[in-house]
Amino acid sequence: MEEARPTASTSSGVGKAVRAGRALTPVPLGQVEAPHVARLGTGIGEFDRVLGGGLVPGSLVLLGGSPGIGKSTIVTSALGNLSAAGRKALYVSGEESAAQVRLRAERLGPAALGVPIVAETDLGAVIATIEAERPDVCVVDSVQVMSSPDLTGGPGSVGQVREVAGRLMRVAKERGVAVILVGHVTKEGALAGPRVLEHLVDCVLSFEGERERTYRTLRALKNRFGSTNEAGVFEMRDEGLVEVEDASARFVAEATRNAPGSAILCAMEGSRPLLVEVQALVAPTELVPPRRMANGIDRNRLALVLAVLTRHTNISLASSDVFVSLAGGVRIDEPGADLAVALAVASAAKGIPLGDTQKPLAAFGELGLTGELRHAAHPDRRLSEAQKFGLTQVLHPTDTLPNLRSALNSAFHNHHAPAQAA
Ligand code: TYD
Ligand code: MG
Repeated sequence: MEEARPTASTSSGVGKAVRAGRALTPVPLGQVEAPHVARLGTGIGEFDRVLGGGLVPGSLVLLGGSPGIGKSTIVTSALGNLSAAGRKALYVSGEESAAQVRLRAERLGPAALGVPIVAETDLGAVIATIEAERPDVCVVDSVQVMSSPDLTGGPGSVGQVREVAGRLMRVAKERGVAVILVGHVTKEGALAGPRVLEHLVDCVLSFEGERERTYRTLRALKNRFGSTNEAGVFEMRDEGLVEVEDASARFVAEATRNAPGSAILCAMEGSRPLLVEVQALVAPTELVPPRRMANGIDRNRLALVLAVLTRHTNISLASSDVFVSLAGGVRIDEPGADLAVALAVASAAKGIPLGDTQKPLAAFGELGLTGELRHAAHPDRRLSEAQKFGLTQVLHPTDTLPNLRSALNSAFHNHHAPAQAA
């Protein structure tokens, strides 16, 4: 790839006139022809929304996620729907035999059984098949197992993964095939292999959640054809992944009522508000340093919230283990979650429930290092979502609620003489 560039390397004098080329005529952007390409709907509403309205023909999509999260399931369903809608689909399975994929498809309904499959790991054969078949959409599951004898490095190595993706991209663009590359991501979230492909592909989707939990979120980390703010929520059932369209209703109904350590977070999943329960447990420990466990929120964000809590309120957590978890295996990566996390931890530490027996307390807002509450994006949407589900007490940054201390006062003011755990 690294060719010597004669023009650059032989520049024998700075300031020497460059050979004049043909002058180009700039065109106002508004007059540039941008053909409207019809998107390919996968028939999975949440998937299409995250893609920015369906698959773009000739585009390359990377679908990353840890093993067992449901990548093969969602692509099989999507291809099934596409072929049922008259599109030409192709499933290239490199990880599982055709029989294994069939067994999965049986659970997903009749459409999935119509998907044409080849089980192959040889890249040359795969590309020849795509050239011969000319599908509208092709899934390569997974990019890490594809190999070619003329490539250096073993299958799954950075160089080989990159080269495999590059070659598939060429076919995708030349033939107008939408290609979905499935990529395994390590548990640490490092996207070790597939991350190297991010600059190459048009769209990077990440399928998140925990294998043992029911809920999974699909989000776009990069999207040349849409917003990266969208996220879709799914539930893994016996009959495959089911879209959870009204996730808030589900999570609020499941929220623990009137128990210490529970708060409802008014989060944003992209442009969509989502209510989700934050649970905290604060338990005395002899361990030094004590444990801090975060499930569904960023560890460092939790560390910050705990530091602000101990420094700016009278809650001491130095000899306590702290566990914080978002119910249902949801993951929220936005600073607007801070206040709800802080309140849940404070409630757990004090042993006092937030809200009242009828309605749980809801909250959102970012915590600043000096204990101040900072504006979080889209307060109106968060508030109306809370209202929609009958949550009337919502603590969020306002002039009358400027910092964490005032939020705690307001959250616990109904309860006199709070018993300090510490
Ligand atoms: P899979 O799509 O194979 O995950 P990935 O390709 O990301 O490794 O599915 C993962 C899990 O989902 C698997 O353990 C079985 C479970 N599952 C269901 O619960 N219901 C279903 O209908 C299917 C197809 C899978
Ligand atoms: Mg799989």
